[in-house]
Amino acid sequence: MRRRMVIGNWKMNGVPDDLTAIDEVERGLHPDCGVDVGVCPPATLLMAAARKARLLRIGGQDCHRAVEGAHTGSISANMLRSVGASLVILGHSERRQGLGEGDGDVASKAAAAMAAGLLVVLCVGETVTTRMSGQAIATVVEQLAASLPPHVSSDGMVVAYEPIWAIGSGKIPSSDEIAEMHRALRRHLCSTIDPGASVRLLYGGSVTPSNADRLMQIENVDGVLVGGASLRSEQFLAIVEAARGLAILA
Ligand code: PGA
Repeated sequence: MRRRMVIGNWKMNGVPDDLTAIDEVERGLHPDCGVDVGVCPPATLLMAAARKARLLRIGGQDCHRAVEGAHTGSISANMLRSVGASLVILGHSERRQGLGEGDGDVASKAAAAMAAGLLVVLCVGETVTTRMSGQAIATVVEQLAASLPPHVSSDGMVVAYEPIWAIGSGKIPSSDEIAEMHRALRRHLCSTIDPGASVRLLYGGSVTPSNADRLMQIENVDGVLVGGASLRSEQFLAIVEAARGLAILA
């Protein structure tokens, strides 16, 4: 059975004073809640956040494909590991679109992250134009296929479907659209790397306490990747609570 998962992505937000949010989330977590909960703060806060985390997993928001070397401004997967991170978000649309990262870049970063022992949260998602043209499923499955590293272990990766038009917009696809996309992603993973259907599939894009329960009841949605609402610990904990409720029912 796939364990529920809730990951918070702080993006480029947070200074040391904001680490009180890590304490608040820690206090709100239950040791046997049946949910894996993670927070990905900016790199500047990783070590301090990891020192505070007990039940919470701490993750990076990107890593370089190389182990070390002359790559000014970049951080390797091993470096993330060395400061206490156990996971990393890769291929987020804000990096694909804003920084020109392609599927091949994401695949090589994923290989490096897995080699370093990090759980990869691999993001895929379509633009609004692709959605309107009826090509969303084909495009996103293709993106996933091209972003997978050559030797991927199914327990080393989680896939997050994040429609670009849903991120930070307050808009989300219909339950049927999400179910259809997740079914297609599951089918692709099963036929390539994951015959036992053990890879977890997350939904991301405008997740809030008021829609989290409904979203996580959709077939093949094993959890959520949360941006804006993860910056407010009470909202983030409410989303974790929704996941816990469903984990208890399962
Ligand atoms: P959002 O961001 O929850 O603020 O829409 C999600 C994400 O970009 O991961």
